[in-house]
Amino acid sequence: MKILVVGGGGREHAIASALARNRKTELYCVMAKKNPGISKLAEKVLLCRETDVPRIVAFAQEQGIEYAFIGPESPLEAGIVDALESVNIRCVGPIKAAARIETDKGFCRQLMEEHQIEGCPKYRLCQDSAEAIAFINDHDGDLVIKPIGLTGGKGVKIMGEQVDRAGAIAYARQIQGPIILEERLVGEEFTLQAFVDGTHLIPMPLVQDHKRAFEGDTGPNTGGMGSYTLPDHMLPFVTKAEFTRAFGIMRATVEALARTGHPYKGILYGQFMNTVNGPKVIEFNARFGDPEAMNVLSLLTSDLSEIMVRITSGTLASAHVTFEKKATVCKYLVPDGYPDAPHAGDEIRIGNTNGAITYYANVEERDGMLVTLTSRTLAFIGTGDTLEDAERVAEQAAASVKGPVRYRKDIGTGKLLSQRIRHMKELR
Ligand code: AMP
Ligand code: GLY
Repeated sequence: MKILVVGGGGREHAIASALARNRKTELYCVMAKKNPGISKLAEKVLLCRETDVPRIVAFAQEQGIEYAFIGPESPLEAGIVDALESVNIRCVGPIKAAARIETDKGFCRQLMEEHQIEGCPKYRLCQDSAEAIAFINDHDGDLVIKPIGLTGGKGVKIMGEQVDRAGAIAYARQIQGPIILEERLVGEEFTLQAFVDGTHLIPMPLVQDHKRAFEGDTGPNTGGMGSYTLPDHMLPFVTKAEFTRAFGIMRATVEALARTGHPYKGILYGQFMNTVNGPKVIEFNARFGDPEAMNVLSLLTSDLSEIMVRITSGTLASAHVTFEKKATVCKYLVPDGYPDAPHAGDEIRIGNTNGAITYYANVEERDGMLVTLTSRTLAFIGTGDTLEDAERVAEQAAASVKGPVRYRKDIGTGKLLSQRIRHMKELR
């Protein structure tokens, strides 16, 4: 089976690895920078912008590709699925109109409101910065400010936490186009991802990501510094009932999209804030999370290529999807100065990774050396029977790396997990 993977990050390395476990898979990959891990798995690599839809479609046709797995959001927004499907290539990923669930935050909130889907925070959609500034000026208390479009996870500012009123206004003034203002949700965040075939959803283990750059959840927001899962595929600060509600919100959203005439297929990523009033939707993504894909795909015991076929043929309902009952910890290494002023072009050397899985991200091989670029470099996944075991594996691998990169030591530690549990207990 000839499969095209679009994207060149850690997430796509995990997707490519999971697909390659099936011996019948022949992998072809498109990415902007040559990811050393994905390249090793691929028959052929096309280096080009991931949003260059005509070039990617031409490459796919030349190579006789049957299926495509779209990693990142930007090609979805550029209509890559619509274009590939028009030449009979089946895709894991939604068409452009359905990907709006991620690419247009205004659309997402309005869809939830119109279809009375629970878990939608109080929000206001402003057409431009003037309207947003007028509202901010009159508003007392905390407020979250976001552009409606894609920002790589770095577009949110919270008035009352990161910025004061003047800072909020200055931020709103910079934003081009519509702005969402919404209530600040307080609680613990979790990620729920699901395979979706248009109507049916299969959930994956719950993951907690860490957005902030530094230990103790301080510093600026990043694409995600690392993440963990637990052996029971749940999180101790999310009850069974809350999980069921979150999954229900995702099912209702897929139903609503089908009713709009643009059925959703691919991976649906729900980012939730678990509050005292239950799970609320921070946002949906139209793809796997990065790093979350690395946690769940390292545990997947079913064949991802078979799941892919079922997603694209609408036959997920009869699929049996299983994940190993183990803990995972993912630690991302990032260049010094990331995310605000990342230093690039430095050599790094990986030492003894001791059983950790290595997923390459924004890193290049030059003359046999690994060289950093400006975004997240590579990730290590530790797996184990307990969180402690998994953390130890990931930590040792991360500590073995020599070079001007850093990572968060606290991700996956028992100490951080107890803080999360305590925080949720205090709120309840
Ligand atoms: P996003 O770009 O939507 O993934 O948001 C980045 C981060 O901003 C999230 O992981 C949250 O920590 C925070 N955030 C976004 N929306 C809200 C909200 N309504 N209340 C509190 N925090 C939020
Ligand atoms: N880990 C957050 C994201 O992929 O958007």
